[in-house]
Amino acid sequence: MFDIKKIRDDFPILSRKVYGKNLIYLDNAATTQKPLCVIEKISEMYSSFNANVHRAVHFLSDASTNEYEAARTVIKNFINAEKSSEIIFTKGTTDAINLVAFSYGERFIEKGDVILVAESEHHSNIVPWQMLCQRKHAILKSIPINDKGEIDFDKYIELLTEKVKIVAVAQVSNSLGTINDIRKIIEKAHEFNAKVLIDGAQGVQHFKTDVQELNCDFYVFSGHKIYAETGIGVLYGKHELLEQMPPYQGGGDMIKSVSFAKTEYADLPLKFEAGTPNYMGAVSLGEAIKYITQIDLENIQTYETELANYAEEKLETVENLKKIGTAAKKTGVVSFQLGNIHPYDAGMILDKLGIAVRTGTHCAEPVMHHFGILGTIRASFAFYNTKEEIDELCLGLLRVQKMFH
Ligand code: ALA
Repeated sequence: MFDIKKIRDDFPILSRKVYGKNLIYLDNAATTQKPLCVIEKISEMYSSFNANVHRAVHFLSDASTNEYEAARTVIKNFINAEKSSEIIFTKGTTDAINLVAFSYGERFIEKGDVILVAESEHHSNIVPWQMLCQRKHAILKSIPINDKGEIDFDKYIELLTEKVKIVAVAQVSNSLGTINDIRKIIEKAHEFNAKVLIDGAQGVQHFKTDVQELNCDFYVFSGHKIYAETGIGVLYGKHELLEQMPPYQGGGDMIKSVSFAKTEYADLPLKFEAGTPNYMGAVSLGEAIKYITQIDLENIQTYETELANYAEEKLETVENLKKIGTAAKKTGVVSFQLGNIHPYDAGMILDKLGIAVRTGTHCAEPVMHHFGILGTIRASFAFYNTKEEIDELCLGLLRVQKMFH
C-alpha cells in the first residue's frame, strides 16, 4: 500500500551524498524534492510541447495550452473547487496573497475596516495586509496564540466585529506545525460577513483539502511545497468574489479587447493571469498532484502522522532540547531549541553530517517575539522521510551538544 523504498526511489536527489554522507533532507516546509515523473514531464514538455499558451493556432501552442488547462482541471479536482475558472495560477502563495490583498482590498476595503491575521502567520500572510491597510487606512489586528502555538479562539471571537472584512490564517503554521481549526475560524468569520483567506502552503500536501466543504472564500498554496516546480502557485477564489475583483496586473492574455479608449478584461481565470504564464510550472504541478493522488493522500497522512509522532517522542530523549510549538494538533514540522546553542550553529554542524534543517525565524518573526526567542531549529517532514532519518537527526543533535560542551 505504502512502499517507502519505492517512494524514495521516485526521488532521485534522495540518493545523493552531501559531504560524503547520505543526504537527510528535513527541510520540506521550505521546499520539497521532486519525483522523477515531474522531472520527466518537464523534460518532455521542453522536448516535445514547448510553445506559448492561448496565443497561436499552431500545433505546439495548442498542445501546450491543452496541457496547461488540463493541469488547472487536475488542481480543481484536487481541492474540489466548483469550477476550473476558480483556479488562478500565480507565482506562489505569496503572489496569491498579494493578489487578493491588492485586488479584493482595492474594491472592498475602506477606511477603518479591520483585517485579522493570526500571530503565528508567515510574513507573506502579514505584510501584504499591512501594505493594504496603509493604502486604505484600514487596521490590521493579530489574533493571539497561546504558549502551545495554537490560535486563542476566545480572543479571536472577541476580535470579531462587523468592522472585520477579512480573516487570513494558515491551515498549518510553517514555524510551529500547528494545524489550525480553520473550519471553526471560517464559520465564525462568516457570521460577521468577513471573508476568509486560508494559506494552505503547509497544509495542502499533508491532508485532503476540500474548499467547498470548508467554505473558505480564498485558498492559496505553492507548487514547490507539493513536489512541483518553483515559481508556480494557486489562488482558489469563489467565483462570485473573483468576478467582482479588479485585475491585479495588466498585460497580454488578461484582456478581451484593447484600444486607447477602453480595455475590456478577459473572463475568469485569465483576468488574473496577465502575461505569459508559467505554463511549465503549472504542468509540473498537475503532474505532482497526479503522483500524490495515486499514492493517496490518506496513505500519506497516515504515514506522516506516524513519522511525526515518532519524531516528537524521539526528540524528547535529546537532553536540553526544548520544543517550541506543542499544539495538540500538529503536522509536518518540529521546531526546537537546543540548550543555549544558536540555531545557526546547530544547523551548520548538522549540515556537515548531511542533515538539512532550517534554522532561524522561518519568516515568522512575530512567532519568535511571542516566545521571546531569536529562532529555532526546524525539522520538517515529507512522506519520503523515514524513522531512521529521525534517529540520525537525534544522533546529530547529540554531536552538536558534544561539540559545544
Ligand atoms: N515558507 C518557507 C518556509 O517555511 C520558505 O521555510
